[in-house]
Amino acid sequence: MADLDDIYGAHRPEMERVLDRLVTRIEHLREELTRQRNMDPVEHILTRIKSDASMREKLRRRGLPETTEAALNELHDAIGIRIVCGFLSDVYAMRDWIAEDPEVEVLEERDYIRHAKPNGYRSYHMILRSKEGYHAEIQLRTISMDTWAALEHHLKYKKEFVGNQRLIVNELKRCADELASTDVSMQTIRDAIMGE
Ligand code: GTP
Ligand code: MG
Repeated sequence: MADLDDIYGAHRPEMERVLDRLVTRIEHLREELTRQRNMDPVEHILTRIKSDASMREKLRRRGLPETTEAALNELHDAIGIRIVCGFLSDVYAMRDWIAEDPEVEVLEERDYIRHAKPNGYRSYHMILRSKEGYHAEIQLRTISMDTWAALEHHLKYKKEFVGNQRLIVNELKRCADELASTDVSMQTIRDAIMGE
């Protein structure tokens, strides 16, 4: 019975195939880039289909109907791919390859690295549309950005622990900025090693 209530309805198997195809394409671009520069730009790639429960929660939060149509077309992150890279230059190199790939159509991009969110969140977001018409969100970030986002995500859901909110917010922001500054230093070291 549970399947009948799935927000994605009959689309789920096709969504999984679309996700697989997108990842295969990204892995191909990664291999090309690795060959060219003799260094793998990617640390790891994570994928997910947004769960039925979180999709419904997000639709409600946005004042949208809990329908398959809204889940697939009003929101664009039912299919998600996170690409975690070692260095800042890798993030932008992967971004450029994806943007220039004729196999994918980029609908929207948000550079939360050059323009960090007020809380310190950093990542490069792309919204794609697959040939089959499904939307997907790609998040590109460095290991440092990923570490921060994971910890901040945990803390956000520890609401029972109230503590000094202002201090927590300020400290999280400070950590994000310190990590960002370390990313720039690591990039400088890498450029020096590569003679760039
Ligand atoms: P939602 O934040 O999911 O409602 O989507 P949105 O349309 O506001 O897009 P946005 O670009 O703000 O965020 C998309 C996704 O990026 C989120 O679902 C998270 O995975 C991630 N993200 C954005 N902001 C934050 C943040 O402050 N902290 C963490 N940990 N992740 C974030
Ligand atoms: Mg948001």
